[in-house]
Amino acid sequence: MVGRWLLLLSGEEVVEKVHASVPGMVQKDECLWLYEMAKLCSKGVIVEIGSSAGMSTICLALGSKAGNCVDVYAVDPFNGGGGTPDPTWWDMSHEGSPDQKYYVNQGVSFKPFWDNIKKFHVEDIVHPIIEYSELAVKKYPGKPIELLFIDGDHRYNYVKLDLDLWTPFLIPGGIVALHDSTYVGVKRAIDEMDPMDFEKIQGPIFHARKR
Ligand SMILES: C[S@@+](CC[C@H](N)C(=O)[O-])C[C@H]1O[C@@H](n2cnc3c(N)ncnc32)[C@H](O)[C@@H]1O
Repeated sequence: MVGRWLLLLSGEEVVEKVHASVPGMVQKDECLWLYEMAKLCSKGVIVEIGSSAGMSTICLALGSKAGNCVDVYAVDPFNGGGGTPDPTWWDMSHEGSPDQKYYVNQGVSFKPFWDNIKKFHVEDIVHPIIEYSELAVKKYPGKPIELLFIDGDHRYNYVKLDLDLWTPFLIPGGIVALHDSTYVGVKRAIDEMDPMDFEKIQGPIFHARKR
């Protein structure tokens, strides 16, 4: 199969190649962590919320291929912007409200994402859901999730919504990882995660293991 050579590379080499050709907002050590965590998955699928141009998606998918080849669901409206056409997007102290969201332009930036996915030959296991997370969950086939990576809207209400809607699919022992965990909204949502339900773990990316 074309692209099989990618599977001969180390995680570090894969991350170097992805970083060199795909724009994204995930650091190399974080990409490597995603790759290694994806490689370990065998009992459930991987779901990513917030795929943008595909940097983290490709790291997850290549890790999965180096491991047990579990499917990767990539959730993003691909609306060409930060996801929410809302001027408060970068105001991280603003908590946001799902009621104020405008659902427009879905899919306009899907092509560059999919071109990147094909460039790395992972289109056979990556399943895009072109939708905001809170709507995508209704289209999701409901498969048990072993690794959930949340990197969508970073305002508190949306992060909390992502956790509330998607963590019920996690298998026991499954991992939810949250990018940019020091952002005000992300941190607040993490702080509110019940330690009886989740073991919280610091790493290149903050994550929590479902008990
Ligand atoms: C920080 S970027 C993701 C970066 C990406 N993980 C990477 O590797 O570069 C945030 C992404 O979240 C998406 N997004 C925003 N709100 C969302 C929502 N409610 N559901 C799903 N995705 C959302 C945006 O469209 C954007 O592509």
